[in-house]
Amino acid sequence: MQIGVPREATPGETRVAATPQTVGRLIALGHTVTVESGAGELASYPDELYAEAGATIGPSPEVWGADLVVAIDPPDPEQLDQLRPGAYLAAQLGPGQHPDLLEALAERGVTALAMDAVPRISRAQTLDVLSSMANLGGYRAVIEAANAYGSVFTGQVTAAGSVPPAKVFVIGTGVAGLAAIGTASSLGAVVRATDIRPETAEQVESMGAEFVPIALDPNATSTDGYAREMGEELQRRALEVCAQECAAADIVITTALIPGRPAPKLVTADTVAAMRPGSVLVDMAARNGGNCELTEPGAVRTSDNGVQIVGYTDLPARLPTQASQLFGTNVVNLIALLTPNQDGQLVLDLDDEVQRGLTVTHEHQVLWPPPPVSVSSTPPPAPSEPPAPAAEPETGATRDPRRGYVAMGLAAVLFALVASVSPPSFLGHFTVFALAVIVGFYVISHVTHALHTPLLAETNAISGIILVGAILQVGNEDLLVRSLALAATVVASINVFGGFAVTGRMLAMFRREESA
Ligand code: NAI
Repeated sequence: MQIGVPREATPGETRVAATPQTVGRLIALGHTVTVESGAGELASYPDELYAEAGATIGPSPEVWGADLVVAIDPPDPEQLDQLRPGAYLAAQLGPGQHPDLLEALAERGVTALAMDAVPRISRAQTLDVLSSMANLGGYRAVIEAANAYGSVFTGQVTAAGSVPPAKVFVIGTGVAGLAAIGTASSLGAVVRATDIRPETAEQVESMGAEFVPIALDPNATSTDGYAREMGEELQRRALEVCAQECAAADIVITTALIPGRPAPKLVTADTVAAMRPGSVLVDMAARNGGNCELTEPGAVRTSDNGVQIVGYTDLPARLPTQASQLFGTNVVNLIALLTPNQDGQLVLDLDDEVQRGLTVTHEHQVLWPPPPVSVSSTPPPAPSEPPAPAAEPETGATRDPRRGYVAMGLAAVLFALVASVSPPSFLGHFTVFALAVIVGFYVISHVTHALHTPLLAETNAISGIILVGAILQVGNEDLLVRSLALAATVVASINVFGGFAVTGRMLAMFRREESA
C-alpha cells in the first residue's frame, strides 16, 4: 500500500506525521512511502534524509492521492478533494468538533482514522497521540513558565544570600499535568497539584509533588478514564482550592479538561488579582476556552497586577523534532496494528474496540461517536478531610509534638532505672549510646527523603567502629567472647563493604557515559 506524508498546511504547524526513522519502519511493514517535498523541513528532517530512508519525494497531489494519507492536522477543502474514494486517512481530526468534515469524508468514501480518538486503554497507549503530545506539552508549559518567570526554580544558597525554590501549582493531573509536575520537580521547584479524580493522588506523590484533594467522591471518575462534569458543590470547592493555592504559588500550570466540554473555569479574575506580581500562569487548556478567565488563546497577556498568563495552543509544535518523532511512532504503531501480516495490506477490524474507537468514517458512513469503552481505574481512597492550606513539606520535626514528649519522658524513666542498677563503667558507655541515638535520630530525620539511601549506605561505615572493636577481641581467652567477636567481624564487614557497594552503584546511575 502506498502511504502519503504531506507537508502540513495549517499556519504555525511545524510537525510532520512521519520522520526518516518511522518511514523505515513503515517500509519494513511492506508499504511504500511518498513524502511531500519540504514536509519535514520545520522539524529538521530534510528531504534527503527521507530519501535515504527509502521514501520517494513527490508533489502534493501524489501524496494526497495515496492509498493511505498520514497527517497531523485535518485536510483543508482542497486537500480533501485530492483524497481518492476508498483511501484511508489517519490524522488528528477532532471528530467531536468537526461533524461537517466527517460528513465530507464519508461522502467521499474515505475511511478516516482519528488519531485523537484512540480509546485510553493500556493496549492502545502506543497509538495515543493525545497522550504523547500532552506529555510534550506539559514539559514545554513549564519551560515557557520558566522563561516568563523572573526568578530561578531551584532554591539556591549563594554568597549574596539565599533564594527560595519556586512554588508551582498544577491543576489537572492527567498526562499533561503529570509531565508538568515531573519537569517542574526536576528543575527544583516545590510542586503541589490538584485534580477532581482522587485516584491520581498516588501518581502525583510518586512524582515528588503534594496532592491537594478537591473531592473524594468515587463517582468523579468515569468509565473511560476521563473526568465527569462537576456538580455545583464540587465546582465551589474546586474554585476555593484553586484560589487558595494560586495565591501561594509563583507558577500555575492549568490542564483541566473534561472531554467534549469547554474547559472548566477554575482560575477566576479575582484569583489572578490575588496572585503575586511576577507570577506566571500557563493555561494549557487555552484551545478549549481556557481554565483561566483571563486567558487569550495563542497569546501572552499580563494582568493589571502583573501576572503573565500564557495561552499558547501550540506547545508540542514548539518541540517539532521530538513531537514529529513521537507522532510518527504512534502512526507506525497504528499501521502495524492494521497490517497484521506485515505484507503491505491494510486489514481494518471493527470488532476490535481500539480500531472501532478511532474509525470515524467507513464505507460512506459516519461511525462517530463509537460505543463507550470501559477501563478499570484505581479504586478511590476513603474520604478524608478537606484540603489543608499551602504549607512547607512535612518533616520528621513537624509531626505531632505530644508524641515526642511522651517518648522522651519514657526514655528518661528507662535511663534512670538502668542507671540506678548498673555499675559506673557501664553507665558511661550507656550514656554515650543514648546520646548517639538521640543525635542520630535528629540528624537523619532532617535529611531529605531522596538522600536517605546514600546516607544509610554511608552511615553503615560506622560499622567500621564495631569491626575494630570486634577484631581487638578476637584474641580473647573466653570462647564466648571470641565467638561473638568473630560473628561481629563478619556482620560488620558485610555492612561496611555492602554500604560502599550500594553507594557506588547508586552514584553510577547518575554518572554520564564517558564519550568515546
Ligand atoms: P487529561 O484528560 O489526561 O487530563 C485532564 C485532567 O484534568 C484529568 O485528570 C481530569 O480529571 C482533570 N480535571 C477535569 N476537570 C477538573 C477540575 N474541574 N478540576 C481539577 N481537575 C480537573 O488531558 P491531557 O491529555 O493531560 O490534556 C490536558 C489539556 O492540555 C487539554 O485541555 C489539552 O487539550 C491540552 N493540551 C494543550 C496543548 C497546548 O499546546 N496548549 C498541548 C497538549 C494538550
